[in-house]
Amino acid sequence: MRFSPSFLDDIRERVPISDVIGRHVTWDRKKTNTSRGDWWACCPFHGEKSPSFHCEDRKGRYHCFGCGVSGDHFKFLTELESLNFPEAVERVADMAGIALPAPDPQAAQRERQRATLEDVMEMAASYFEAELQGPQGARARAYLRDRGLSGRTIAAFRLGYSNDNRSALKEHLASRGVDKEQIEACGLVVHGPEIAVSYDRFRDRIMFPILSSRERVIAFGGRALQPGAPAKYLNSNETELFHKGNVLYNFARARRACGQDGTLIVVEGYMDVIALAQAGIDNVVAPLGTALGENQLKLLWRVTPQPVLCFDGDEAGQRAANRTVDLALPHIGPGRSLRIAVLPAGKDPDDLVRHDGRAPFDQVIASARPLADVVWSREAGSGVFETPESRAELEVKLRQATSLIADESLRRHYQQDMRDRMNAFFGGGPRYNKREQGKSGGGSFGRGGGRGGR
Ligand code: UTP
Ligand code: MN
Repeated sequence: MRFSPSFLDDIRERVPISDVIGRHVTWDRKKTNTSRGDWWACCPFHGEKSPSFHCEDRKGRYHCFGCGVSGDHFKFLTELESLNFPEAVERVADMAGIALPAPDPQAAQRERQRATLEDVMEMAASYFEAELQGPQGARARAYLRDRGLSGRTIAAFRLGYSNDNRSALKEHLASRGVDKEQIEACGLVVHGPEIAVSYDRFRDRIMFPILSSRERVIAFGGRALQPGAPAKYLNSNETELFHKGNVLYNFARARRACGQDGTLIVVEGYMDVIALAQAGIDNVVAPLGTALGENQLKLLWRVTPQPVLCFDGDEAGQRAANRTVDLALPHIGPGRSLRIAVLPAGKDPDDLVRHDGRAPFDQVIASARPLADVVWSREAGSGVFETPESRAELEVKLRQATSLIADESLRRHYQQDMRDRMNAFFGGGPRYNKREQGKSGGGSFGRGGGRGGR
């Protein structure tokens, strides 16, 4: 049977390639970096004594620097175990815990439909790009120029313009043979039982195409040109192609830019991503108008163990950071965490790099704090702990936070870390000694069973 590309992508992304290969090789302890998903072994395809066979979970590829073989999960199984392709797919699907798609004519139909929707989105993106450069795009071009974007940046991000005609795009697509149902399925028009004539969703907006990890256009964000417009940014609705919780703006480019040991940076807005790219910082993504969600975190972790999340320094930014910390804690694990960077209050990354280039933003990133630090100071930060009651309360809060961590080993380390911080804070501090003179330095926040105790 034929497997759809999206099914193959899906299982390849769920199963680390090292799991497939690890059944046939012994990993080299010295060269391998497990937390980075970077593995080395003696090549199973040719005899050798020192490991020149490399595989990277992030890329889902292997390569031998000795004999030159390379490939993905399926290639490995077909070459080494002489499975045929469907058998290799079955094996990996099995490891992923996903059932093989039943031979289903409708699935094939959906896949074809998907392909055609992507084609329609591509037509729309090209149309918006051309509009931006055309006579109707003058105001939009001036706006982007005022915001400091170069022609190169505009082209790289394929920015476009939707004019304020209610049916310009609809008619353009229809004239190219796209039928009404497809235009609707792409979310490019507003339609529905109570709407007599469907009309273009995006009007008089700067258009930001949103790409899948395979770099096909799957949605748009649109920024209003008129200051008074009801929504400053409008995104495509959810469609067959677009599930916004699973997508990050600029993900594919950022993944490429982050390279071997790079990291990924998460900012809030499209314009931030673009301004940073223009300033030479390409490893940046943004969620799509909502707070970062669980699936987006997992997407980040496929690329890097410690993405850096940027938040505004104001109170709203603080709240957003706290929410994200709570969202992340259940999912962190060995080699899967995050850092948090705080921007100067009221400045977004776009403002920061506008006049002084990348340096001010680089500084923000350099001062990013590890998650454990953030958890600690969130609870202990500005509090006063003069009484045993207040200290006990702090202990409870820290325990509540760390108990969110599902990974057992990491949870233990966090709990230990928080106890150490409390000891340092209360036990060793001059304030404590002054107030409680004569008592031993240990204090009542000792680590219970001691280091390594449970
Ligand atoms: P901001 O309001 O911070 O805008 O929204 P911005 O990115 O600084 O945009 P500019 O600089 O004014 O052009 C940040 C992100 O929140 C989403 C968008 O994804 C935006 O990039 N957003 C914002 C919406 O989805 N809808 C809105 O009405 C506003
Ligand atoms: Mn902005």
